[in-house]
Amino acid sequence: MAFAPILSDLGVEARRFEPGGDSCIAAGRAPALLQIGREGWALALVEGPRSEPALARLRNELWPALHVVALFQADESGVHRETLQGRKRIGEAVTFRGMVLAARRREEVLSPTATVSKFDTNAGGWNGEPGQPGYAHFRWMRRYVALFAQPKAGARVLDFGCGAGWVGIEAARAAGNAELAAFDPSPEMVRNAEKNARESGVSRFVGRTGFGEDPPFSERFPTVLSSGVVSFSPDQERWFDGLARCCESGGTLVIGDLNPASRGMEHRRATRPLLPARELNALTAEAARAQLERRGFVHECTAGYQLTRPVPQLAHWSDTKLHGALSPILLAWNRLRAGPTSDLGAFDSWVQRFRAP
Ligand SMILES: C[S@@+](CC[C@H](N)C(=O)[O-])C[C@H]1O[C@@H](n2cnc3c(N)ncnc32)[C@H](O)[C@@H]1O
Repeated sequence: MAFAPILSDLGVEARRFEPGGDSCIAAGRAPALLQIGREGWALALVEGPRSEPALARLRNELWPALHVVALFQADESGVHRETLQGRKRIGEAVTFRGMVLAARRREEVLSPTATVSKFDTNAGGWNGEPGQPGYAHFRWMRRYVALFAQPKAGARVLDFGCGAGWVGIEAARAAGNAELAAFDPSPEMVRNAEKNARESGVSRFVGRTGFGEDPPFSERFPTVLSSGVVSFSPDQERWFDGLARCCESGGTLVIGDLNPASRGMEHRRATRPLLPARELNALTAEAARAQLERRGFVHECTAGYQLTRPVPQLAHWSDTKLHGALSPILLAWNRLRAGPTSDLGAFDSWVQRFRAP
């Protein structure tokens, strides 16, 4: 069977692979698009070699219904699987020659179960490691977002999707060790945030598990921060409703995330067939602002931080090949350029401040 190694790799029974009939969701097009029953995989078959930009275009066409999570290449040398984690040979050559894009539904990739599992598994990776070349940059970004809130002395802080908690911790410290509430879907992340808060001297900390779409705090807070979270939400309307519900009237809301409109992000979408779902799911600063203005929030300021291509590529190269030799210079460059702007094209991340209605 031409696709046996691929189906076996995906854990799909070969007999389910039935071109035509009910299983075929886009017959007669090139590429053939086939959906495979219960296991939830959709495969896009592309015969012959294809360039990376051509595969990236196909991936963009499948989004937002489907998200491509693996790419199989079948040629005379065998069948190889490529994911964001790397490339691996999975079988001998088969009769099919070409590419197979393996996709899952967006809702499934961004589902609560997938989110908890992903962040629980890699909670340490999001904590940052002191002494590593990128650590100063990692902590600077969180401090930048925290201080963008201009925290007021004693005002309680809520970190909405806290991860390891650094944004909330920096804000609470800037507010004179104010009380910090934080939540995240991942229990492991909340545990890390609690430990980090304690070790940073933020003694009044309440951590809970929960999602932004249904926040686990019923009270409202004078300072709310959410950094790098909305791009993971499968239901951004509900997520913004949840965010708005947590803000005290007249209080400060700071939200930041990836900038899908930066030159670097646009280049990645045009040239890379495999990308994390959040990069496709991310909102522009304008779209996020419109969501909040519809809910009565008043915009105060938008800033760009984290310079786009080639800075992240140089930082990666510096960290992995030069033991971080360039990291201080790149960080200094980022710090110099970060700030209020109406042209976000040069930045991979945006942050905005609003006044709550
Ligand atoms: C990129 S990390 C950012 C963590 C932290 N805010 C920071 O800036 O370091 C994204 C975090 O969002 C959380 N998350 C994902 N989906 C979420 C949702 N729907 N509601 C709230 N948090 C979510 C994840 O568990 C993860 O800890």
